[in-house]
Amino acid sequence: MLDALPPGPRFTLPQKIAYARDPIGFIARCRDRFGPTFTMRNMIGTVVMTTDPEAAREILSAPRQTYGVSTVKLLSPLLGKNSLILTEGSQHLKGRKQLMPHFNGAALATHRARICRIAAEEAEAVRHCQVQMQDVMQSVSLRIIVETIFGATEPERAHALITAVKGRIAASNPLLVFMPALRQSAFGFSPWDRFRAASRRLEKLLLSEIIHHRTACCDGGSFLAGLVTDSTMNDREICDQLGTLLLAGHDTTASATSWAFDWLQREPALLGTIKDSLHDSGDGEEALMGNALLEEVCLETLRLSPVIPDIVRYLKEPLRLGGKTLPAGINIGICTTLIQRDPTLFDDPLIFRPARWRGKPADPHTFLPFGGGSRKCIGAAFALQEMQLILGTFLSRLTIKAQKPEAVSPTAVRNHFTMGPKGGVPVLTA
Ligand code: HEM
Repeated sequence: MLDALPPGPRFTLPQKIAYARDPIGFIARCRDRFGPTFTMRNMIGTVVMTTDPEAAREILSAPRQTYGVSTVKLLSPLLGKNSLILTEGSQHLKGRKQLMPHFNGAALATHRARICRIAAEEAEAVRHCQVQMQDVMQSVSLRIIVETIFGATEPERAHALITAVKGRIAASNPLLVFMPALRQSAFGFSPWDRFRAASRRLEKLLLSEIIHHRTACCDGGSFLAGLVTDSTMNDREICDQLGTLLLAGHDTTASATSWAFDWLQREPALLGTIKDSLHDSGDGEEALMGNALLEEVCLETLRLSPVIPDIVRYLKEPLRLGGKTLPAGINIGICTTLIQRDPTLFDDPLIFRPARWRGKPADPHTFLPFGGGSRKCIGAAFALQEMQLILGTFLSRLTIKAQKPEAVSPTAVRNHFTMGPKGGVPVLTA
């Protein structure tokens, strides 16, 4: 027998607007008013949202077939219908099996030198400047993902790919994504026309890269070179997965690394300790990977300032949750951010304290910046490695000083598809 949905706010439009503007603040207010699990409505429909770690554990350990994806219609123009993010059941499992080997430990190690080289070049380019670290990190992470996926080291090829990805992101107005009624053509001049033109440009380049990798002898270290030789995906499927990795794999890391700089610029003593440790150990890739302070900073940044505030699953079957049965056909969400700020799980949860991770591995049930269960972020280890190498390379080469040193609590704002630090982290470099 099905139970009634938990209570939540009544009026649909105000909650959609409040959630779109400030998802974490909105969910925190609902939790305070209705309890840890409540029903809300946002752009994807009805969501039973929880901030309760036990409920999160139940949701993430339910069998794979319990869940589907409710955002196919909304997101397929952006990601392609074969995208890992939009497939479900056996097709999703097959996709993960084909992509996973390219994210294992041995594969990750092959990308380290490339990440450090790009980070070093970008760090030198902003020496003695006033910059916004968010812009710098966007540029570093886009170069890294393009070179990692395509092995595109030739400046012209890399430039064409980067321009096409940027063009596609600039044309991806969130209103177009979440309000399909706005997808109207107007003689090539409407936002929807511009989005489609930018998508076509990127897709054409991706397909030509796939053909190039199938026919020519390409850099064996690139992700695409591995995919065309090892997987059974056709060109269309590979194209959708590449588009997904390009999008999911750079805006996220750019925002996460910007958050790390945002926190560090408020902690000059910690910044000094990290710089001393880098001075002692050197800035070689293995030394950076072995630097425990850098790793702790990355974990603490992702705990306190997750770039994706919550994760959602669509119920294909009824689900028992906290002693109640929720019906199929709705979404359930976990507010990973509020779990990571839960005072029963973390002492002084709102304080940035990287040392809390010293000698303590992250618990996958309470540390959830990459989600969890069968849809956990496929690039999690890649992203952590990338954050650590970028931070280490920048801090070993540059002195970074806050332009606005006042110790206010940082605020999250939507930045493309992720939550980034408000103001973009303006700093002075030397
Ligand atoms: C700090 C950086 C990153 C963060 C915080 C992040 C976070 C996330 C989160 C929260 C999810 C949803 C998980 C869930 O629903 O349980 C996700 C999914 C995904 N991420 Fe990431 N991500 C990051 C970097 C990356 C990178 C570098 C890549 C690839 C190169 C990537 C590729 C993906 C893909 C393909 C999925 C979909 C997985 C699936 O549905 O099976 N992400 N990510």
